[in-house]
Amino acid sequence: MTDNQEHYVKLTFSDGTPETVLPIRPSSCGPDAIDVRELYKKTGKFTYDPAYMATGSCASHISFVDGEKGKLLYRGYPIEELATQCNYLEVCYLLLHGELPNVRRREGFEDLVMHHTMVHDQLEYFLRGFRRDAHPMAVLTGLVGAMSAFYPKSCNLMDSEQRNMAAIQLIAKMPTLVAMTYKYSIGEPFNYPKNGLSYAANFLRMMFRIPCEDYVGNDVLNRAMDRIFILHADHEQNASTSTVKLCASSGTSPFAAIAAGVASLWGPQHGGANEAALRMLSELVDQGGEARIGEFIKRVKDKSSGVRLMGFGHRIYKSYDPRAKLMRQTCHEVLKELDAETDPLFRLALKLEQIALEDDYFVSRHLYPNVDFYSGIVQKAMGIPTPLFTAIFALARTVGWFAQMNEMIKDPHYKIGRPRQLYVGEVERHVVPAEERA
Ligand code: CMC
Repeated sequence: MTDNQEHYVKLTFSDGTPETVLPIRPSSCGPDAIDVRELYKKTGKFTYDPAYMATGSCASHISFVDGEKGKLLYRGYPIEELATQCNYLEVCYLLLHGELPNVRRREGFEDLVMHHTMVHDQLEYFLRGFRRDAHPMAVLTGLVGAMSAFYPKSCNLMDSEQRNMAAIQLIAKMPTLVAMTYKYSIGEPFNYPKNGLSYAANFLRMMFRIPCEDYVGNDVLNRAMDRIFILHADHEQNASTSTVKLCASSGTSPFAAIAAGVASLWGPQHGGANEAALRMLSELVDQGGEARIGEFIKRVKDKSSGVRLMGFGHRIYKSYDPRAKLMRQTCHEVLKELDAETDPLFRLALKLEQIALEDDYFVSRHLYPNVDFYSGIVQKAMGIPTPLFTAIFALARTVGWFAQMNEMIKDPHYKIGRPRQLYVGEVERHVVPAEERA
């Protein structure tokens, strides 16, 4: 214990291990943490916490979630203010550098990112090696991993210049890679990026422009896309972020670490939930839509059915998901703009939302529509195919992964990550000859 340590915890053991004292580290918001780093040295024991439900893996300055109050902060700024007053690239700057940029820095950063949007020409041939019906996340995991081979001068994670360049390159090129993945899947020619456009407008143009027609962007849709990017940019030490950090902790290439994050995000319990929510809605429409909604809700409430209302509920947000509130607003704007409010799928979604907000089963369990419910509806209305939703989530989260990885590398306590285990297998035994084995 140091002299200036204000709070501590005293551990007593029933197995004869001597009493020990561990410091409590204060947080700036949220719960304080018991610092167990010295526990093994002092007691010969370590902690057991599968899924890390009670373990803080780092001290971070980047994002903060208060699930009880429904709050999300990036570098201290409420997500509501960032989503309504800033654009995605300003948020990227904030996450990477800790402060919002002034006008000169914002312009410089936008210029830097937008001048790295093109990808190496040879990457196209790599992409063409995939089957056209491959899942976009399978393709994206491969493309991002392959970046190390195309940009070898940005592969040294320990060199801050190379690491920063890798961040700019990937933030700039992810929209190009995702749009190329989509165009390839439907057999349309790729579009080059257009640097005079905003980040979101450039992405939507690369997605939907075809060479034989003029492409006219839509400000409501560009804003909606930008908001999806902002809302998905970072979210504490979730599975994909922790994957990126553990992977990078070995000192591997930053592109390899981000590819690991893309792979983790793919899972339906993580970034894949928006795809699952849309699938559920489509199936319900196919089975009879609004006429069958009562029966469906009955099945959701019946535990033995194993059916869940996808896009509802959240592990951490128990009052509401602040991102969902913002996305809901965008959802209504987009449906209105596209005259899609009467589409059976969207009508069904709005009906489910209404039921969940009023029905005691959902209200009493704090099950509100989450961000994935609305972002799925918005993307579907914009014409984005369902399997691409998670790839767009990965695009938006790339900046958070880089910010978190940078913070880890710069931490003076940085070491390769290496969780311990509680071994419960066989104790040491010896090989017997094959003919004597049971
Ligand atoms: N539909 C019906 N019942 C539900 C649902 C749901 N979507 N979610 C939770 N419940 C019930 C659950 O059966 C339980 O009831 P009871 O107390 O009677 O046993 C109660 O609500 C609490 O559930 P839980 O499983 O303890 O809640 P959790 O915090 O472990 O689960 C969740 C959170 C997100 C996994 C869950 O709500 C869920 O499966 N939702 C649907 C999938 C989804 O939309 N996931 C995306 C989350 S946002 C992703 C992100 O931020 O990365």
